[in-house]
Amino acid sequence: MTQRRILVTSALPYANGHIHIGHLVEYLQTDIWVRFQKLRGHECRYFCADDTHGTAIMIRARQEGRAETDVIAEMSESHQRDFAGFHIEFDHYGSTNSEANKERCTEVWKALRDQNLVIERDVTQLFDPKEGIFLADRFVKGTCPNCATPDQYGDSCEKCLATYSPTDLKDPKSTLSGATPEVRTAKHLFVTIESFRSFLSEWTGQDDHLESSVANYLKGQFLGKELRDWDISRPAPYFGFEIPDAPGHYWYVWFDAPIGYIASTQEWCAKHNQNLDDWWRSDQTEIHHFIGKDITYFHALFWPSMLKAAGFTLPTRVQVHGFLTVNGEKMSKSKGTFIRASTYLEHLNPTYLRYFYASKLTPREDDIDLNLEEFAQKVNSELVNKVVNLASRSARFVADTGLSDAYPDDDGLFENGAATGEFIAEAYEAKDYNKAVRLIVGLADRANEYFDKMAPWQLKKEGKLDEARNVCSVALNLFRQLTIYLAPVVPQLSTESARLLGTEIKTWDDAKTPLVGTGVQPFKHLLTRVDMKDVQAVIDASTDASTETAGASAATSDDSGDALAAEPIADECTFEDFMKVDLRVARVLKAETIPEARKLLKLTLGLGGDETRTVFAGIKSAYEPSALEGRLVVMVANLAPRKMKFGVSEGMVIAAGPGKEDIYVLSPDDGAVPGQRVH
Ligand code: 2FM
Ligand code: ZN
Repeated sequence: MTQRRILVTSALPYANGHIHIGHLVEYLQTDIWVRFQKLRGHECRYFCADDTHGTAIMIRARQEGRAETDVIAEMSESHQRDFAGFHIEFDHYGSTNSEANKERCTEVWKALRDQNLVIERDVTQLFDPKEGIFLADRFVKGTCPNCATPDQYGDSCEKCLATYSPTDLKDPKSTLSGATPEVRTAKHLFVTIESFRSFLSEWTGQDDHLESSVANYLKGQFLGKELRDWDISRPAPYFGFEIPDAPGHYWYVWFDAPIGYIASTQEWCAKHNQNLDDWWRSDQTEIHHFIGKDITYFHALFWPSMLKAAGFTLPTRVQVHGFLTVNGEKMSKSKGTFIRASTYLEHLNPTYLRYFYASKLTPREDDIDLNLEEFAQKVNSELVNKVVNLASRSARFVADTGLSDAYPDDDGLFENGAATGEFIAEAYEAKDYNKAVRLIVGLADRANEYFDKMAPWQLKKEGKLDEARNVCSVALNLFRQLTIYLAPVVPQLSTESARLLGTEIKTWDDAKTPLVGTGVQPFKHLLTRVDMKDVQAVIDASTDASTETAGASAATSDDSGDALAAEPIADECTFEDFMKVDLRVARVLKAETIPEARKLLKLTLGLGGDETRTVFAGIKSAYEPSALEGRLVVMVANLAPRKMKFGVSEGMVIAAGPGKEDIYVLSPDDGAVPGQRVH
């Protein structure tokens, strides 16, 4: 087998938040793939870094009265501790706020300038005179210019869904200082992405760079029309790198973040006496990026364009995964399912989550659900009962004698397991861990059937000690084969299993040769069962944490009257007025995210039969699309269609709450059917 050189990355986590179990889907998906490649003998390296720049960090540092560099140093340590706790092993973990990154950003920038791909344009924005900064849309609130609802964000109204520019808001206020913002104009620099269109159209559709659904999405959403110039600079003050040929202007965080992949590699090269160009300017190196679906367009449009302009190697593959839901819903602080990595680790073994996620992950961008009952059940019945128990049941019979000196007849089981190894490897290679795990569990089933059929405890009772030893030698060898195949997923379990048999796992091919005549260490527990009490402890601890930070918003019952005071009852209307509004029960047939829309989900609502409506609802911050699909809602069915940025909205879904995560879609009680009128 020829050795491949493979560079792998996960998206760089923002330095303004802690790692939670949603993030871990990606880092575990990547770590498993990297471990697999290393076990196969390839020269594979895994690079990551903290994503440190931008307004959010700057504001947090101001609020805490600290330097940004302080905040990001602390966060980097915390992130790395969490990753290590889950056995996620990087070859190098850097920071985008590094000298190496500044150098590489400068290089890419120069290439863009040299090729005349940068233009300058004035941008008019709201400016907070007290804080002295330009305000991104989410930092301005005011009254909707369309329906006069107060307390709306700068880009769209949660009530009437109108989209507008923050300068159109009535009575705008900065959410940072409360000051009334001023309208100011500043120079911004833009990259003319349109110049890359033919290159991008070709690249996205070619050579398995992307899953076909992702390529089609890009084609449909972006590449079919003119690509908008990419606003790549922010005026001072901004926490980031100042643009060398534009003093007072900084690279936007999304410019320097992916360049951090290269910078992290560069730092590793410096430590290991390697040449950066062998990793980033060589057709001998494969580059695989693992990312979540929300940042597809950055990685599949902007990023290849930057790489192309600067003459770096283009990604071999951008692997896109879906979001995590817990018990079928978006992670929720009030339900205790917004679980930090560190909270999980206080109560539960990381091996469980590694195994569970692996069993769910496919190469597709489907969301994955962590149903906590299923989590415990799957880990216990598969990993503990079928794999670990095979060892615990057989090891004690050979504790004194060690394994048989010649490999016994086993009905072809070991050979079959060795042959299946190639299919398992193919599944890992294709990032289809769900399939790999299924194949491994299939082998475990056969090994357990053999063990139960041969009943070594019975043989021992009958005095057939050699035969009992042979059966257990087979079982332990089959167990060893399983733990080699599982090594990328549950490395700690595999290492400890190998130790039990007095050996080490060095390569994937170790699974092709059985061990004979070796001693067996006294058995110690390799993995205990998941206890639902510990799962509950994680939920409880996560619920507490959110109550501390989210205050009253986490309370389940709040009859204080604050909500009514915040939005007093509207002017009286007549019964006839009310009857003009035709409210109907509808089923959410489809719920889709629109990556460029911060708040909107695109819903396809069914009114029964073939009658459907498309509605854009401002509920993205509170609902995971998959959690909405299938449920009944109430819609305004006779609202005049409204043209919005992303399409025509043919109605409105009824919801309560002030917005953000506090949005509650109303549902009818059981028994209601789509199409029924609500009055
Ligand atoms: O979405 C995010 O969390 C970003 N911090 C990811 C950056 S990935 C890369 F481009 F650096
Ligand atoms: Zn409005």
